[in-house]
Amino acid sequence: MDGISNKRRMLAGAVVACGGHAFAAPLLAAPGVLLTRPIPSSGERLPVVGLGSWITFNVGDDPAARAHCTEVVRAFFAGGGRLIDSSPMYGSAQAVIGHALAQLKHPPSLFAADKVWIGSGARGPAQIEASRALWGVPRFDLLQVHNLLAWEAHLRTLQGMKAAGRLRYVGITTSEGRRHDELVRIMQTQPLDFIQVSYNVLDREVERRILPLARERKIAVIVNRPFRQGELTQALAGQALPGWAAEIGCSSWAQVLLKFIASHPDVTCAIPATSKPAHALDNMLAARGPLPDTALRRRIVADVERRT
Ligand SMILES: NC(=O)c1ccc[n+]([C@@H]2O[C@H](COP(=O)([O-])OP(=O)(O)OC[C@H]3O[C@@H](n4cnc5c(N)ncnc54)[C@H](OP(=O)(O)O)[C@@H]3O)[C@@H](O)[C@H]2O)c1
Repeated sequence: MDGISNKRRMLAGAVVACGGHAFAAPLLAAPGVLLTRPIPSSGERLPVVGLGSWITFNVGDDPAARAHCTEVVRAFFAGGGRLIDSSPMYGSAQAVIGHALAQLKHPPSLFAADKVWIGSGARGPAQIEASRALWGVPRFDLLQVHNLLAWEAHLRTLQGMKAAGRLRYVGITTSEGRRHDELVRIMQTQPLDFIQVSYNVLDREVERRILPLARERKIAVIVNRPFRQGELTQALAGQALPGWAAEIGCSSWAQVLLKFIASHPDVTCAIPATSKPAHALDNMLAARGPLPDTALRRRIVADVERRT
């Protein structure tokens, strides 16, 4: 942990101030070391950056397109990534991930996160089995009820699978601030290991209720739409990085946007999607080095709001 103490902007495994409160943030941070956060229900640590797959991996069965996606996944693992997120809603993405994993000889560090997305509770198990076969994994690490669809029935299925040792973690997802009241009720009443919600520099609604509740209920938080589906990276493309970016070791706007998310102590990991191997590596760099403190988080918000 050399040099940490004199780096003003660095948060390092201690108590950090965020939103006016002091939180315990069990974060490993040192130059070159991958930043990880624990899943509260188990203590298992995950890198603070994962990989999404919506649209970017829906490339069908064209061999060249699949080979390109394999290079994205290769770069992601090379950068230290572990958690890949998909869904039966994402067209061919699950099959494309399965192809990539087979080509890469099934990296043992994979944390496989998929979803169940079907209106009928009775048909959930068959959909899950079809997804597992597409990924080519013996079991999923995490299954999430996608967009709260038929959540009572699917949560029963997932809890049953977990109890039987066929699944490690159970979660539920939403995005773009949808149905937060219902999500809160589910978080308050159901045993959940994970939730997945949208959070980025401009969309910060979850800071108010959802993230504090996740901390209180010891639920891990996956962040989707970290770049607002590319809107933020596109708006910032070509704009010079401010001087403070170097203080948190950022060489791209994507890293700034991801470090903003990762610096919230109640976030477990963000899952940017990309179609480019170089972007996968760029994003994984956000899981290394210093993170912004409260003052710099405010400055990032003001700067990005002004520029977008
Ligand atoms: N309800 C749900 O459960 C739910 C809802 C929404 C999303 N999700 C999950 O969350 C994931 C992420 O959300 P998202 O895909 O909507 O959007 P996102 O990750 O916010 O943005 C994706 C876009 O960012 C661009 N990008 C990625 N890395 C970049 C970099 N380093 N530099 C510049 N541009 C970069 C990509 O373009 P390039 O291809 O050019 O890199 C892509 O167009 C999804 O893929 C999905 O797995 C879940």
